[in-house]
Amino acid sequence: MMKFQGSHILSVSQFDRESVARILDVAKRMIPYASRQKRCNVLEGAILNNLFFEPSTRTRVSFGTAFQLLGGFVHETVGQESSSLTKGESLFDTARVISGYADIVAMRHPAMHSVAEFAEGSTVPVINGGDGANEHPTQALLDLFTIEAEMNRFNKNIDDLNIVLMGDLKHGRTVHSLSKLLSLYNNIHLTLVSPKELQMPDHVVSALDNAGHKVTITDSMVGNLQSDVLYQTRIQEERFASKGEADMYRGHFSLNKSVYEQHCKDNTVIMHPLPRDSRPEANELDVDLNDNNNLAIFRQAQNGVLVRMALFALALGVEDKLSQYEREVTWFSSKGN
Ligand code: CP
Repeated sequence: MMKFQGSHILSVSQFDRESVARILDVAKRMIPYASRQKRCNVLEGAILNNLFFEPSTRTRVSFGTAFQLLGGFVHETVGQESSSLTKGESLFDTARVISGYADIVAMRHPAMHSVAEFAEGSTVPVINGGDGANEHPTQALLDLFTIEAEMNRFNKNIDDLNIVLMGDLKHGRTVHSLSKLLSLYNNIHLTLVSPKELQMPDHVVSALDNAGHKVTITDSMVGNLQSDVLYQTRIQEERFASKGEADMYRGHFSLNKSVYEQHCKDNTVIMHPLPRDSRPEANELDVDLNDNNNLAIFRQAQNGVLVRMALFALALGVEDKLSQYEREVTWFSSKGN
């Protein structure tokens, strides 16, 4: 198992199966705090610097929420224009300075491998919140947490599942990271549905092949969605040369109630890293599925808080001190405690 304390979290390639199990186990122990049954101030006095140089709602806010739920303070820098990177400062120098102000850093950046470059200059742990089209390791962990939790309803494990990944598999960093994590498990059938031009990169497919998984690559939904989990993704417009180029692929694999009823199993769990593109020309995941209990997208986003709490606790070495720092919740909570 990897050593968590003091370590950067940059890529899912760092994890073995035991390390993933450890993260998911600690994440489960965060449920009472995230659901406000208890509070915990084990990170009181600690500072997170949340550096987001690319748009984000879920990742940025849930990193901040996770840290605050453990009692820490959050400082945010949003957008490169508000950073001295625009004056030509290097990622190394920025990291060396910022890490002097914080105990841990969460970072998103549009360039591939930029977060690793930043981490080289950092004196505190750095967590990758997405680096271009490369990776999104914390998303993959929360996706895995969600798959495990959803499959628990059907007495199934991650091993032996049928999983469909659909959409822009070339640019979608979440599906790259999730596929690599799934390579740690056994006997999975992955069906990769995408336009030919947006297929999963070869190195990710090789990792799945090498793990002994069955991989089906197709550009058709027909006959290919009979799975335990259907993971839909957005056309990653920001990774194309132009909006016009991205437009060529929008709306090709829209999932709606009619498609679901025609092509999926009764209980296929629908996931999506979000944001979903709800513009009419895309509508990749229709709101007419919102009442379907197998639509896990909002539970999935919520699980991001648990997983990020776990990573903070592990990286800062407090995962076994949670109960010592527990308190009662003193306010009315709509979360049902
Ligand atoms: N899933 C995800 O990364 O969402 P955001 O871009 O809103 O952070």
